[in-house]
Amino acid sequence: MQLKKHKQLEIFKYEISKENSYTPRHNAKNIPSLIKWTGSKRSQALTIASYIPEYSRYIEPFLGGGALLFITAVPGSIAGDIYEPLIDLWKEIQNDREKVIANYAEQWQLLHKDIPSYFYEVRDRFNREHDPLDLNFLMRTCVNGIVRFNAKGEFNNSFHLSRPGMSPERFKNIVKKWSDRIQGIEFICQDYLETISKANVRDFIYFDPPYAGNKQRYTENLDMQRFFEALYDLNSRGVKWALSFDGNRGDVDLVKPLPNDLYKRRILIKSGHSAVGKVLNGPLEMVQESLYLNY
Ligand SMILES: C[S@@+](CC[C@H](N)C(=O)[O-])C[C@H]1O[C@@H](n2cnc3c(N)ncnc32)[C@H](O)[C@@H]1O
Repeated sequence: MQLKKHKQLEIFKYEISKENSYTPRHNAKNIPSLIKWTGSKRSQALTIASYIPEYSRYIEPFLGGGALLFITAVPGSIAGDIYEPLIDLWKEIQNDREKVIANYAEQWQLLHKDIPSYFYEVRDRFNREHDPLDLNFLMRTCVNGIVRFNAKGEFNNSFHLSRPGMSPERFKNIVKKWSDRIQGIEFICQDYLETISKANVRDFIYFDPPYAGNKQRYTENLDMQRFFEALYDLNSRGVKWALSFDGNRGDVDLVKPLPNDLYKRRILIKSGHSAVGKVLNGPLEMVQESLYLNY
């Protein structure tokens, strides 16, 4: 079978080459902001996509908010994540967009009648029942849209008082764009090893795992040894992958890099200024994240 290059990816590549630069476009306005997820690659997505070679099937085993998926998705692709309410939400957006749109509009109205009590009511309900539509509402209305869990695995971010949620009309447009874009994708709740187990040489895999050193931000921590073994195995099977992994802030390395013999290239992508610097009014330090390629 001949390899297909997805048309959408070509368009994004063209936009990047027109600027003759690989610096990220922080507004990323071509990717509608659907699921706000910690560690989102939205601001880097165009840059990352510009390094992706041709493929017939795209596989993303640590999906989160799937910023890259908007550019890379082709029918038959596989998108997995270990967090069930998140995958359930993706499936609802794919298969029942009207329900997602109507639910957000209804919850937004209830919120505006009872700020902020309604938010906390939904948060308690979500922590009992794990309804994906409640997760969606919480993500759109919590402080800075940051999904955060306590040690018991409960969603514990607070209500964003000064920004009580995107208007239902705007949300509707975003859901429609994404829903169209992800038709034919298989969303699956499982461990990443399962998701990549059947990958072949015509596939391309993008990994964006929870980084070492950022333990509290995700539901699951990564066993590095197990992860590296999986990458060696893909190398031996001739499967191409890219991995967002670590980086540096100012001149401080955030985590140790990958074993040298695991990859062919490491690219540093500017991802903005350190939030800590901004909050403390300290010097603004540029944060760079690494993209590792095995080709
Ligand atoms: C850095 S986030 C991905 C962010 C995403 N690239 C975006 O743009 O929003 C990492 C994701 O990996 C998921 N995850 C953690 N451990 C996992 C595992 N063992 N298998 C599959 N997914 C896992 C987390 O639930 C989280 O959604």
